[in-house]
Amino acid sequence: MAKIKKISKSLDDTYLIGSEISKKLKKGSILAFFGSLGSGKTTLIKAIVESLEKTSQNINVNSPTFNYLNIYNLKIPIYHFDLYRIKDKNKFFSFGFEEYFSKDGICLIEWAENIKDILPLKTHIIKMKHISETQRELELINL
Ligand SMILES: Nc1ncnc2c1ncn2[C@@H]1O[C@H](COP(=O)(O)OP(=O)(O)OP(=O)(O)O)[C@@H](O)[C@H]1O
Ligand SMILES: [Mg+2]
Repeated sequence: MAKIKKISKSLDDTYLIGSEISKKLKKGSILAFFGSLGSGKTTLIKAIVESLEKTSQNINVNSPTFNYLNIYNLKIPIYHFDLYRIKDKNKFFSFGFEEYFSKDGICLIEWAENIKDILPLKTHIIKMKHISETQRELELINL
């Protein structure tokens, strides 16, 4: 499986990486984001969503921490999950969330650690690591 490491030295770098990633996505793509608090998952997702939409306007992308899932009805529907508080896969199934894996949109999943053994085989993995206040390491797997 192909692994690519990238260093983001700034928010601008992260936006550029987000726009590169967005070009590889299509309906049905699933991206699983791994990485600790503040590692930049939501920031990268915002960059991906704005690039997919081909807009320089701000799209209101926020961690859906209190409702687990935000849906953005854009050109391609985006399903943005934050599973920080879904500690096991049974809770994920209890909401019927696995249905979104086979929908005609793109799934972007923060805290994928919590459901890692039920992610579909085709899932693209992004691991993010905090290096310093402004730097992040990204590992792109299967992307
Ligand atoms: N190079 C960088 N790339 C991404 N974010 C950066 C970078 N440098 C600094 N930051 C800052 O790091 C923070 C990352 O926060 P963000 O909400 O994206 O993290 P997160 O991984 O989604 O956290 P959480 O687990 O709480 O959802 C933001 O405040 C952002 O401005
Ligand atoms: Mg977040």
